[in-house]
Amino acid sequence: MPTTNIQSLVRENIRNLTPYRSARDDFDKGVLLDANENSFGSSVRSPLDLHRYPDPMQDCLREVIAEYRGVESENLFLGVGSDEPIDLLMRIFCEPGKDSIIITPPTYGMYKVSANINNVGVKEVRLTEQFQLQPEKIRKAADDTTKLLFLCSPNNPTANDMKRTDLLKLCTTFPGIVVVDEAYIDFSRQESMAAMVQQYPNLVVLQTFSKAFGLAGIRLGVAISNPDIINYMMRVKAPYNINKLTADTALKAFDNLELLKFNINKIREERQYVAEQLGHSEAVEKVYPSNANFLLFKIRHAKEVYNNLATLGVIVRYRGNEPHCEDCLRVTIGMPDENVKFLKALKDVVG
Ligand SMILES: Cc1ncc(COP(=O)(O)O)c(C=O)c1O
Repeated sequence: MPTTNIQSLVRENIRNLTPYRSARDDFDKGVLLDANENSFGSSVRSPLDLHRYPDPMQDCLREVIAEYRGVESENLFLGVGSDEPIDLLMRIFCEPGKDSIIITPPTYGMYKVSANINNVGVKEVRLTEQFQLQPEKIRKAADDTTKLLFLCSPNNPTANDMKRTDLLKLCTTFPGIVVVDEAYIDFSRQESMAAMVQQYPNLVVLQTFSKAFGLAGIRLGVAISNPDIINYMMRVKAPYNINKLTADTALKAFDNLELLKFNINKIREERQYVAEQLGHSEAVEKVYPSNANFLLFKIRHAKEVYNNLATLGVIVRYRGNEPHCEDCLRVTIGMPDENVKFLKALKDVVG
């Protein structure tokens, strides 16, 4: 950001917001008769005291995740998946009916959906045919009303990393908040941008427990940024957004980081195997390099192949409607037996 003034980018009503004070903000010990909980307890047996509201700040979990990601807990916001921080950023920075965001198609669809829900404009600056950013075009597309830039690295659905030099350049040239979605970062060899939030006050890095951690079911997303932006997110979120079951499971994940690493390596190996096998198919015109847990490939008559695979019980994603992705399918790397089934079904379909 050329001249950094985060405050001036924040919507006035959010700057002036008196946030909800949760029941435990002042006292959290003693005879707790302040929050209309059920003092007789939950009808479900659990060591987690489920009849009590969870910690609104999730300080303990934030500390553990911050240490793992090499930042301070004041740099960390926890949301219900990454979808929550995406929506909160819209609500904090974009005036409905007036402001806009920039996205770089082909990319993750939720940025646009979230903007549409919030009645925020969407400007599109496509990736190049090599699926890389066009920093100069992005800068030119930005005006006074363009508050957020959504970048995704590794990108979904193209699976490649964005060039780090481009990401850094945009942090200094884009006049608003730069969001770098790193949902797939743990599958990549590229370093996370998380530590760069100390240097770039307008940078927000998104991560998630849904991919490498294999915890899509608990809905836990992370936003990493400077404490000013994190504070605004804390003020705008629903008071008890992260529930006790989610927090407890996420903490347990850190007891077994060996398994996390093992699974990541397995996925990388399987990715290599599937990519090679796809490369041997006559019908496959291109397998794009991947730094994520999925592959994008170009195949003749992709829509038909997609439907025929589904008939055989193998579900992949058709991405042929995205720019530069004509006749492309996206396949998630599965367990070894699932990958074999996919490759066999593909053979049956394309001959
Ligand atoms: C780039 C990207 N960001 C975010 C998400 C969603 O993450 P979460 O499950 O944390 O909401 C996805 C899911 O596919 C994704 O591809």
